[in-house]
Amino acid sequence: MNILGIETSCDETAVAMVKDGKKILSNLIASQDMVHQRFGGIVPELASRVHTEIIDSLFLKALRKSKITIREINLIAVTAFPGLKGSLLIGNTFARSLAFANHIPLIEVDHLQAHLAANFLHPPQPLPQEIKFPAIGLVVSGGHTNLFYLENRAKIRPLGETLDDAAGEVFDKVARVLNLEYPGGPALERAAEKGNPSAIKFPRAYLGKKSLDFSFSGVKTSVIYYVKRYGLNNIPDIAAGFQKAMIEVLVEKVRRALRFKKVKTVLLGGGVVSNKVLRQEMRKLALAEGINLFIPSPILCTDNAAMVASLGYYLYQKNLS
Ligand code: KG4
Ligand code: ZN
Repeated sequence: MNILGIETSCDETAVAMVKDGKKILSNLIASQDMVHQRFGGIVPELASRVHTEIIDSLFLKALRKSKITIREINLIAVTAFPGLKGSLLIGNTFARSLAFANHIPLIEVDHLQAHLAANFLHPPQPLPQEIKFPAIGLVVSGGHTNLFYLENRAKIRPLGETLDDAAGEVFDKVARVLNLEYPGGPALERAAEKGNPSAIKFPRAYLGKKSLDFSFSGVKTSVIYYVKRYGLNNIPDIAAGFQKAMIEVLVEKVRRALRFKKVKTVLLGGGVVSNKVLRQEMRKLALAEGINLFIPSPILCTDNAAMVASLGYYLYQKNLS
């Protein structure tokens, strides 16, 4: 089964072709970083305009790269929510028109859940060993920080979410306060590599002993006050201290979810999961707790349409059964 995935929820226009929910035949991502860079953040109106300009040619390129004709597409999966309204509209209108004109079934996909489906794909990552469900899923992206319980690949329910800022959003904001380049997350990780993570202790919000929700506005404010008071002479240490505070909370929440749900598998996803220190700390947790951990290749952590196609495939199978 050939599944076409379409993703336009934010500032990446992405089109992918995936075979049977697993094998990536093409995975094209047109980043708009250059467009939004000079504004220091995403401008929604500009994002939708760029999606409109390139989605058509990206789709044709994906067909060529996959050596597939429109007639050979068996299913179209499109990100329906959450995201920027105008941006989502472009991908959805394109997907619907294509489906309608060519009599191809269409399935709507939740972007957050799709981030977890990045673990089902190959290449560039090897095909994972059998993933044993149930599992805990953690999605850490620019707009969201969510914990999920996965009964199987297609039955996913929420366990916790951020009560204020998303982790990626805070990485971006702190990077801006530290005068680092856009996009902030990767720049902050690079700055932190030269710093001492224990030099400055920023607060961690655990929200009591049982909560599976997140709160990151406190650590963000704390960095802003630190910079107001002491200035920017010590960027690597500030970056490293901030990164450590963020990661410790993320790891602790996964540890809790594993204990509460008595689950042996963890799937990660979302742009922030490309952070090397986060990956390393999650691996340590997996070793200590004796669980199977799945982390997508960095290119599949950030927004892409292959993950949308994969989740679409499993949802479609579930609907058929
Ligand atoms: O999942 P994603 O591509 O888009 C959303 O759905 O939001 O995530 C983008 C977020 C941005 O906030 C970006 O700064 C962050 O992921 N990010 C990182 C790293 N790479 C990307 N954050 C921390 N460390 C990184 N290496
Ligand atoms: Zn995303």
